[in-house]
Amino acid sequence: MSDAHVLSELIRARAGSAPVRLGLVLGSGLGHLAHAVDGVAIPYADLPGFPHVGVSGHNPNLHVGTLEGVRVAVFGAREHYYESGNPRAMLLPLQVLRALGADRLILTNAAGSLRPDIPPGSVLLLSDHINYSGLNPLIGEQTDARFVPMTDAHDPALRAALQAAAAAQGVDLPEGVYAWYSGPSFETPAEIRMLKTLGADAVGMSTVPEVILARFLGLNVAAISTITNMAAGMSDEKISHAHTKAMAPLGAAKLERILREFLASLR
Ligand code: HPA
Repeated sequence: MSDAHVLSELIRARAGSAPVRLGLVLGSGLGHLAHAVDGVAIPYADLPGFPHVGVSGHNPNLHVGTLEGVRVAVFGAREHYYESGNPRAMLLPLQVLRALGADRLILTNAAGSLRPDIPPGSVLLLSDHINYSGLNPLIGEQTDARFVPMTDAHDPALRAALQAAAAAQGVDLPEGVYAWYSGPSFETPAEIRMLKTLGADAVGMSTVPEVILARFLGLNVAAISTITNMAAGMSDEKISHAHTKAMAPLGAAKLERILREFLASLR
């Protein structure tokens, strides 16, 4: 049995064997959403091979149970590339998600905005992304399955369902292109001007490797950013991780309403 199947059996023994329908990865300052899951929380430390997450503001537990009547697996934290230089850090968790039965994944993150009309406190649905890191989590894969098409990687049907949920909740949900910068340093104002020229609407340090891994694993995927700041050079505000964590709850309330409405629509 693969590691993912061993871990999925371990999780079933603790959380029950009903299949999981959907996975949710929570970003910086959003980890508390996981506590709304009616089920069990399994520390990543109990799941060999799961990431050692060291970023403050994250909740390193896998929550398996029901949310709005839908069986979900919520990853309270992700490992970022900048933590250990491994772009494949989320491969095993997503393989486990697949082994638990899920066929869809919603990713969330905190991001900086490049659009003055999408200020801090907004939520942004990713229509597409730019992998500006030059990294790829599939490097080293041996089969032709590694040549993953990335057209419509951000699943149009999932995006439409999330838009419908946002509309039902009266939450504005603009769509835009997210650029992945490796971090952990923030970008320079010159880099942000460049990213704008390249067509990015938001910038962050996560999500893109997970979108690639999800498509590799056959998961339909969509991603939502909570905007915590204007990107470097776009406002007088000082950018910091403390600021990201302080601002994340603003968008998190909107995100939670969208996700709950979306899940209720799957019942
Ligand atoms: N840049 C990169 N990552 C981020 C930002 C940013 O401005 N804000 C929150 N995460």
